[in-house]
Amino acid sequence: DQIEKDGFQYYMEKEIREQPESILRAFQGRLNRDAGTAHLGGLNMGPQELINLERVSIIAAGTSYYAGLVGAYLLEGVARLPATADLSSEIRYRNPVVEKNSLHFAVSQSGETIDTLFALRELQRKGAKVLGICNVVGSTIARESDGGTYIHSGPEIAVASTKAFTSQITVFYLFTLLMARMRHMSWDQGLEFINALESVPDKVAKVLEGTEHIRSLAEKYSDAKNFLFLGRGINYPVALEGALKLKEISYIHAEGFSSAEIKHGPIALINEETPSVFIVPDDHLRDKVVSNMKEVKARDGKVIALAVEGDAEVAAIADDTIFVPKTHELFYPYVMVVPLQMFAYYMALKLGRDVDQPRNLAKSVTVE
Ligand code: G6P
Repeated sequence: DQIEKDGFQYYMEKEIREQPESILRAFQGRLNRDAGTAHLGGLNMGPQELINLERVSIIAAGTSYYAGLVGAYLLEGVARLPATADLSSEIRYRNPVVEKNSLHFAVSQSGETIDTLFALRELQRKGAKVLGICNVVGSTIARESDGGTYIHSGPEIAVASTKAFTSQITVFYLFTLLMARMRHMSWDQGLEFINALESVPDKVAKVLEGTEHIRSLAEKYSDAKNFLFLGRGINYPVALEGALKLKEISYIHAEGFSSAEIKHGPIALINEETPSVFIVPDDHLRDKVVSNMKEVKARDGKVIALAVEGDAEVAAIADDTIFVPKTHELFYPYVMVVPLQMFAYYMALKLGRDVDQPRNLAKSVTVE
């Protein structure tokens, strides 16, 4: 056990720290610089079939669902392909419509989640083509799907999923590049996308060098009973994932919201005892997020900001700031989710939780 943990106290920390390599494994051999695009052999779909796609629908549960939300954002915004992500537990009982020229993805680390498997079967009965995005080779979803892509994360042992998330989104970055290049993206824009993706492992490694600061923040805030996680756009699912990580392993109540939504309810929760974690990339929504941060500060809420190195304005507003390296605006989910994983981890450590085996949770949920 100790050898497998590589000297770490918990698998979760080992798996978080593996991400520079696991992300690399997810895209290695799947990028073609000469063509400025991605290659995903397991899709079993040629260009003539791909170009006819009119809709992508993603089904998944838990962390895999949040990866699917990032995927849907990319496919719509970058590949200009209508895309949605749905909870598999909901879609399986919803009598879903399978549209002509649509493609479905079932995302599952374990490949065994019963809700996702049953949703896949129901979609297939209705004539859908469902591709799997799985980690476990030969798992049921991988076998029953009509093709797909392995994420090659290596075994994920800790119940709370970490490295699988960053690898799942990597597959969506690749598929988005492939589709965008076929539809409207130029070769040089494709290369720019490839360069940005290839720079991700080093940026994540850099985030992982700064974890002592995150540990000290977890200690500082470990008495809080409630947390809000707030982000927008492609980082909205990252806020949901940050909240999920914290509740799963520390048992602290946490909710993720679009920061634009706080005025519709969550802001009523703000007081000096409820810290808010704001994700503030330097993208087109930054200024809106900054003004949401100010609204929280004006109500005596404590703010922990994840901001881009050099963003002194955000650091001046927030009570505490975790800086992440500047990144291409589409690629912030990677450098933003890793500090949130570490924050949840250190919080659980500080509270003496069983990080790898949190109460009431299972790694793979094969019952309804
Ligand atoms: C369980 C795990 C989560 C995981 C979810 C979906 O709830 O505890 O970490 O995100 O299942 O699992 P899957 O294997 O389908 O990705």
